[in-house]
Amino acid sequence: MKKHPTLVVEHCEPILSEWLLLEYKHAVVIWENEVVFTRVTKKTANVLKNIGRIEKEKAQDIFSHKSSVVLDPQAEKPLTPSDCKKFDVIIVGGLLGYEKPKGRTKKMISNRSDFQQRNLGPYQLSIDGAVFVAKAICLGMTLKDIEIASEIEIIHDKVHSTILPFGYPVIQNILIITPGLVEYLEKL
Ligand SMILES: C[S@@+](CC[C@H](N)C(=O)[O-])C[C@H]1O[C@@H](n2cnc3c(N)ncnc32)[C@H](O)[C@@H]1O
Repeated sequence: MKKHPTLVVEHCEPILSEWLLLEYKHAVVIWENEVVFTRVTKKTANVLKNIGRIEKEKAQDIFSHKSSVVLDPQAEKPLTPSDCKKFDVIIVGGLLGYEKPKGRTKKMISNRSDFQQRNLGPYQLSIDGAVFVAKAICLGMTLKDIEIASEIEIIHDKVHSTILPFGYPVIQNILIITPGLVEYLEKL
């Protein structure tokens, strides 16, 4: 059986924040095999080299000879299990979300490459959430089999809570959320 495509995270944020790093670490755990971080700057290389392979070039410069697909919320077609057999490389944007999506995956990755694009449904997922859903699809599930909560509320105490306006997968009633994120938000 063909092994899963290589996962590429194209690092597009100017700063490697604690939140972003938590999502990257979880993405690496979910994908199990080697994850390649592209567009890595000198500043972030020292940290990212501990969790995956690092490349300073963009995915377009390294993987244009391979059959690759960008996970882009604005793509017309959904990712399917047969795509996982067809593509050697799946590229996810190393981008944090805004409440109102700004189409940065399209602007920073899709429009600057000749790769095909696929969506993962109507919700803006976190990086690790997108990787989780892509993995589920590569294991044979289709998007309609995967429950996604449209947003989540993290309750800190009787008066304080944080709403994360992003889609989070739910599998057998278990919410798939970035390990360490709740603790990180508690200390803000
Ligand atoms: C938090 S999202 C950033 C989205 C970015 N704000 C935008 O508007 O394009 C991080 C990455 O997860 C992937 N992703 C998230 N939701 C997705 C969806 N519904 N379809 C396809 N990819 C998605 C994309 O690769 C995206 O770059």
